[in-house]
Amino acid sequence: MMERMNVTESFHGIVFPGHLHTEKSLRFAEDFHFEDTDIVIATYPKSGTTWMQEIVTLISSNGDPFPAQTIPNWARAPWLEQFYSKDVLKDRQGIRILTTHLPYDILASALKKSKARVIYIARNPKDVVVSFYHFHRMANFLPDPGTFDEFLEKFLLGTVHFGSWFEHIKGWLSHKEEFNFLYITYEEMQQDLRQSVEHVCKFLDVPLRPEAVDSVLKYCSFSAMSKNAMVNYTLIPTEIMDHQKGKFMRKGKTGDWKEYFSDKQLSLFQNIFEYEMQGLSKDLLIHLN
Ligand code: A3P
Repeated sequence: MMERMNVTESFHGIVFPGHLHTEKSLRFAEDFHFEDTDIVIATYPKSGTTWMQEIVTLISSNGDPFPAQTIPNWARAPWLEQFYSKDVLKDRQGIRILTTHLPYDILASALKKSKARVIYIARNPKDVVVSFYHFHRMANFLPDPGTFDEFLEKFLLGTVHFGSWFEHIKGWLSHKEEFNFLYITYEEMQQDLRQSVEHVCKFLDVPLRPEAVDSVLKYCSFSAMSKNAMVNYTLIPTEIMDHQKGKFMRKGKTGDWKEYFSDKQLSLFQNIFEYEMQGLSKDLLIHLN
């Protein structure tokens, strides 16, 4: 897919990096046959996707770090809409862990035909945009983000790759009753990871003994994951991700946006946030603003 490094794939009005997505792969996801036993991790990029992939993998292995440390995340929890997922899933037996950045509008009709479990992770969009900005600087399959101010404007307009953060959140959260759905925020995971892991265990119906939970916590910490080549993307060649320009496991903090936003950018952001989010219940937004 190197030849598609600078290709942009447009699907239902949203642009995706052509290096990972083709029209065929996006249609494959849109028409996917979900099983009731599937676990679907749904996120807007930079919201804690990789973190949740690790948590679900570790819970599924009863706290044993072996799968998490020997199988790359994209192989054990493939992004449905990316070109390799069809092959990766071909002969998969048992409970499948699937990942998606697709919005509700694209995935809902296929997903609703099953009782698959959906774990939706959201993160404060101000931290998302900062994280996404840095990711654009290192990922050669994403366009040059320009200055932070230029990138922020595109993020607010929803013209960045993967579409609008606001539409993603509104789409999934306003329809969550249609699914077997667990909503978790990055901020809650930061505040009390044990409790978040316990919520996920309960949702997945996988009771873990306290020692197994301890092991999950140990191996999904930021420092442990930063060292795990199966999730820190250091296996990806420099032509695709330039590790000189930044790390995938960058800071792993909440509130880093304060280092980047000017007062003017903040007030613009807040106005748009309030306008866009007025239809959503306030308790869903507690950690996101
Ligand atoms: P930062 O760029 O703010 O550091 P995604 O997996 O959805 O692409 O999200 C990536 C973001 O999640 C990055 O944020 C990354 O550092 C953070 N992250 C990944 N694993 C984490 C962990 N175990 N604890 C905290 N943050 C983590």
